[in-house]
Amino acid sequence: MPQIRLEKVDKRYFRQIKRYRDEMLKSESSFDGCSNLDYYDNISRWIDHCHKMESIENRQSGLVNSDQLLLVTETEEVIGMVNIRRKLNPLLLMVGGHIGYSILPTYRNQGYGKKLLSLALDYCQSIGIREISVSCFSDNIASRKIILANKGEYDSTMEIGNRKVERYWIAMEEKIKVIMDCDTGSDDAIAIMMAILSEKIELLGICTVAGNKALNYTTENTLAVVEALKSDVKVFAGCGSSMVTRLLPTRRGSYGGFTGVKEDGDKEPEITYHHDHLPLPTPVRKAEKKNAVLWLVETLLEAKEKITMVITGPMTNMAMALRIEPKIAENIKEIIFMGGGFKVFNATRCSEFNIWADPEAAQIVLTSGIKCTMVPLDATHKANFDYADCQRLRAMNNIVTDAVALMIEQRIEAYDAYQPQEILGTAPIHDALVVGYLLEPKVLEEISLMRVDVDFSGGMADGQTICDTRAYPDDERNCYVALGANNELFHQLVFSLLEKVN
Ligand code: BDR
Ligand code: CA
Repeated sequence: MPQIRLEKVDKRYFRQIKRYRDEMLKSESSFDGCSNLDYYDNISRWIDHCHKMESIENRQSGLVNSDQLLLVTETEEVIGMVNIRRKLNPLLLMVGGHIGYSILPTYRNQGYGKKLLSLALDYCQSIGIREISVSCFSDNIASRKIILANKGEYDSTMEIGNRKVERYWIAMEEKIKVIMDCDTGSDDAIAIMMAILSEKIELLGICTVAGNKALNYTTENTLAVVEALKSDVKVFAGCGSSMVTRLLPTRRGSYGGFTGVKEDGDKEPEITYHHDHLPLPTPVRKAEKKNAVLWLVETLLEAKEKITMVITGPMTNMAMALRIEPKIAENIKEIIFMGGGFKVFNATRCSEFNIWADPEAAQIVLTSGIKCTMVPLDATHKANFDYADCQRLRAMNNIVTDAVALMIEQRIEAYDAYQPQEILGTAPIHDALVVGYLLEPKVLEEISLMRVDVDFSGGMADGQTICDTRAYPDDERNCYVALGANNELFHQLVFSLLEKVN
């Protein structure tokens, strides 16, 4: 199937549609469907008619905004069309038109009707529609089949002229509104890909922060991922250093942990979890002008629906935003973050990197009163990938999955060298597990609500997540902590999403 997209009716397509129409009339087949295109001599008159109808219907039934959308191939050929009319009640909408088959005979019976309805549903969802009514002629078996496959519920049958039209309702699954905040190295990159590829997520923007690498690298890497997936999600660069850790030069003592983390300008080690640049084409796009922290404050203050924060790096941006405007907490549904350790650590003997990199920020977030879910190393190390997984990815044969395979191979090499796992030749992709959980909660196991605080005293335990497991903790429990993961389910999810890349 060639790449196809939906476009609003535009003059440049008129001649083409007219040609199809003439072809159809000659072959005595019909353009049946709600648009009744075959009754009009030319496409502009048909569109005029739709607009006229729109104002009549508007008065009679509250239907407004008739959008005629076309299914267009990459060579600009129109192969299907659909009408979308919104009701004054913004949650309702009607979809009609040639949803059951393509208008161009050569494309019929090839699954384009199905694609057309699924794109139309995506479009409806993107303009905030929750429930749509779809109609088809009773004798149009193909359309009915597609409507039923999309969980259409039969409502009623009406007569139009001498034909029967069936009406169905399709309830839209609500997308989860998400903002990601990442220090994009290899595992963040895979997490971002999953979020972009999932139909369950509406990704509102990605903030970047210093962490795995300096901010210029994490931002460029984020843009590279977004561009490789042809996504138009906006990227906002945030904080280039932690809130306060660096104010005391002696605070980190002679830190020698977590081999592979480097500052801007350091020589890149040969074996590393995250190379400066991801193995993807250099992005052309730039980050937005606005700083991520300011954008977070604005976006969260104005949000009409609560937003889920997915944080896969140090929590500097989130903590800064909460300090600037604590009211934003009201519009955050939950914060799911990769970070911390219960019994497993990496940055130091008792801390995990993301939390260690900005302990004060993590403590501000954990004590903000917002629902928090922590995905610590204990969980991520239970969902490791191996070389066979990389081969499977390479077999998908495109630059994105090739890059994912290479990044996982590099991770395995680094893990074998610096943090050998129970099974050699395997490595966790920590951050991706967070998105996995968001999409399929069963991906995380052994979840319990605990009191979690972060040590930021500057001593040996700097950056430790202190989980109070006692029956009566000193302070209120504030964070769900996952200690296990369903490896098989996580693998299924990662592959099913990456298989969508073309
Ligand atoms: C975390 O630290 C970073 O290196 C990874 O991207 C992940 O978010 C693991 O400790
Ligand atoms: Ca990360």
